[in-house]
Amino acid sequence: MIYFPISVLMLAGIRDIALITTPHDQEQFQRTLGDGSQWGIRFEYIVQPSPDGLAQAYILAEDFLDGAPSAMVLGDNIFFGHGLPEILASADAKASGGTVFGYRVADPERYGVVGFDADGKARQIIEKPEVPPSNYAVTGLYFLDGSAPARAKQVQPSDRGELEITSLLEMYLHEGALSVEKMGRGYAWLDTGTHGSLLDAGNFVRTLTLRQGLQVGCLEEIAFSQGWIDRATLLEAAETYRKNDYGKYLKALAGEAASS
Ligand code: G1P
Repeated sequence: MIYFPISVLMLAGIRDIALITTPHDQEQFQRTLGDGSQWGIRFEYIVQPSPDGLAQAYILAEDFLDGAPSAMVLGDNIFFGHGLPEILASADAKASGGTVFGYRVADPERYGVVGFDADGKARQIIEKPEVPPSNYAVTGLYFLDGSAPARAKQVQPSDRGELEITSLLEMYLHEGALSVEKMGRGYAWLDTGTHGSLLDAGNFVRTLTLRQGLQVGCLEEIAFSQGWIDRATLLEAAETYRKNDYGKYLKALAGEAASS
């Protein structure tokens, strides 16, 4: 799962990534992902002592961010669509304010939901509303400027005791500093927070992979196409996975690169 959100950050051109986990899970993530150098990126691991809300990530990562703008992606979110790197790059290029994406879903009450005014401008974001003001959920991908940690410290815990990401986003929104961009129906945004949605996401990725013969969220492929790893490193990874289809896929990529 974690490879998909990491691939989104890499497609946005981001190479310095902090992974925020529970204390219990940190070691497992470190063992699986290492320091990131195999993909030409760098991981720093940060613990969130207890699940006190997404906005807390900015407080925990304050030193890591060191005043810089950032992108945060949730570990259970999958994004897929033609042109994704371009919309990510344009959100990442903004020096001040923030950008989030609204995506039409059938069950908005499960998410942070955008309320629009008559001109179609975002006016409010409400976390898991009983009566959603629209069908547009805020996806788990947030591009915020360097003021996010300071702002996150102003967020008051919600009724469920969490520092809600929507409260942080509303601060930006009320200052006119948040762009809410609609991610159109040509994109797939899937989350895997329930058993059913995890199975759906697995089937979606499997269907595409089998049909196209292309992997979704292949970090070696992205790193190679970004020029962050060379062909020899790609071949090393292919060797590691030589006993399965993933290894064959990487080997074929390296072969194509050699012949082009
Ligand atoms: C979180 C956010 C919510 C957002 C969602 C996207 O919800 O609080 O605003 O729409 O992620 O996946 P959670 O997954 O914590 O229920």
